[in-house]
Formats: sequence, C-alpha cells, structure tokens
Amino acid sequence: MSMLSRRTSPLWLAALVHRLSGLALAAFLPFHFLALGLAISGEARLEGFLRWADQPLVKLSEGLLVGLLAVHMLGGLRLLALENLAWREGQTRFALLAVAAAMVVVFVFLASVF
Ligand code: HEM
Repeated sequence: MSMLSRRTSPLWLAALVHRLSGLALAAFLPFHFLALGLAISGEARLEGFLRWADQPLVKLSEGLLVGLLAVHMLGGLRLLALENLAWREGQTRFALLAVAAAMVVVFVFLASVF
C-alpha cells in the first residue's frame, strides 16, 4: 500500500481524529479547572464567567468540544474492543458509526442550549 492510499484510508483518518481530539481535550482541561476554580473564588466572578459563557459563539465552541469528547470516547471504545477482543471485522463501519453518533450528540447538545 502506498503512503498516499494509507493516508486517505478511513481508519488512518480515524487514528488522526483520535489523536487530535485527545490533544484538544487535554488542552481544554486547564481552562476547565480554571472555570471550576472561579466557582470557589467568589459568586461575582463565577456569575461574570457564566454570563460570558452564555454567548452563542461560546455555546458553539462547547458543541465542538462535546463532539470531540464524544468522538474520542466512542473511537477509544472501538480501539479498546479492537485491541482486547481480537475482533478485526468491519472497523471502518464502526469508526464511521462513532463519527455519526458523535454528530447526533452534538445536535442534541446544541438543541438543548439554544
Ligand atoms: C471519555 C473516555 C475516553 C476513552 C474511552 C479514551 C480512550 C483512549 C484510547 C483507547 C486511547 C489510545 C489510542 C490508541 O490505542 O492509539 C486514547 C488516547 C488518548 N487520549 Fe483518550 N479516552 C478518553 C478520554 C480522554 C480525555 C478526556 C482526554 C483528554 C483530557 C484524552 C486524551 C487522550 C490523548 C492525548 C491520547 C493520545 C492520542 C495519541 O497519542 O494518538 N482521552 N484514548
């Protein structure tokens, strides 16, 4: 298999999405702890943050984050099953299913916050 065809294979893309989503979630974590810290550092500061977080663009970014978490979790469960259950068939279909399910999660999330 040539380098190019490997890079366009859905499972190569699934590995890329898994790595990028894992890194993005890890980058988000310090900001998440910062926001949690505001909750114990005073009501007014938390209130200010919550007001800021109520903007449409922030909610959309949260939707993206929820999608990253969903696709990383579902893709991670696929990988764990693949690695531990000696089960190799239909992986492209399961990777696509993970993406589709993550999209449904994003739509449900966005529908509930807007
Ligand atoms: C929600 C449940 C989660 C599951 C089931 C899960 C599963 C996995 C698995 C199985 C791997 C290894 C992938 C491989 O074998 O190549 C992995 C990698 C990784 N995960 Fe998660 N994970 C979860 C949540 C998270 C969260 C919340 C973060 C970040 C805060 C995160 C960050 C990462 C990173 C940075 C990697 C390394 C990616 C790479 O080197 O390609 N994961 N995850």
